[in-house]
Amino acid sequence: MAARALAARLGESFGSVAAMRADVAAQRDAALLILLAAAGYALLAAAHAARARARGRLGGRHAASFARVVHGRYSCAEFDPARRVPQATLDALLALAARAPSSFNAQPWIAIVVTEPAARETLTAALAPGNRPKALSAPVLVVFAGDAQPEAALAPAATQPMREALAAYIAQSGSPQAWAFKQTMPAATTLMLAATAHGLASTAMEGFRTMAAVRHAVALPDRYAVAVVVAIGHAKRPRPKRSWRRPLRAAFHANAYDAAAVANDACAPDL
Ligand SMILES: Cc1cc2nc3c(=O)[nH]c(=O)nc-3n(C[C@H](O)[C@H](O)[C@H](O)COP(=O)(O)O)c2cc1C
Repeated sequence: MAARALAARLGESFGSVAAMRADVAAQRDAALLILLAAAGYALLAAAHAARARARGRLGGRHAASFARVVHGRYSCAEFDPARRVPQATLDALLALAARAPSSFNAQPWIAIVVTEPAARETLTAALAPGNRPKALSAPVLVVFAGDAQPEAALAPAATQPMREALAAYIAQSGSPQAWAFKQTMPAATTLMLAATAHGLASTAMEGFRTMAAVRHAVALPDRYAVAVVVAIGHAKRPRPKRSWRRPLRAAFHANAYDAAAVANDACAPDL
């Protein structure tokens, strides 16, 4: 009887040891699973980050594409009036132009995007006669104007030293208008390059009847100085011969002004 009870007690003990072992094994398996899942997640995250880095990294084929865009831009003399620029494309171009740099990031410019036929006609009438036919053929005209009261364009959070520096830079520029023009042209140029990248043609035009006439055509207050009107659309005919550029050594002087490079600079054979 006692022997049977002892055997039963021993059996129970062995049973609970076996159960404990099974528990430990289950816990180990669970820990292993968690570890594997964590490692898998870390690997996935690293791969995702590497892909994102590769997408964000410039250079290589991006440099070649940019060169194609720069060489592909030219001043288009006639647009196809029958071909519109889709609104989504226009929106994409404007978003790119808005990424242009400006001093203090003040962005002291605005652009009036003229697409309505009647508004384009009114604006075209304010341009120099030589620019009117090409402007009239373009489905999009963008009036870029610099803010000649740039202090007002500074964010309210701008510090006093920033305001003082801005006043000094405006004085160095010669006038508030000159400063505002400097800040406006990068955006206009970016817009033209963006248009080229989207397969469109463009032309910058500074030939106005008068600046006041352009302002009046688009209801711009006097505080804005019109820098340029950019026409955008599909080219009516194939691109003409590439325009001439000065030799690089005439334009880019190493370390200091090179009078000889300027003296030897040929005049533009285009003109
Ligand atoms: C600020 C600026 C103003 C310009 N104004 C006019 C203009 O009023 N009419 C015009 O036909 N072209 C105008 N152009 C275009 C230039 O004549 C043209 O950029 C230049 O001849 C070089 O040719 P490309 O743009 O085809 O390389 C202007 C260009 C710039 C940058």
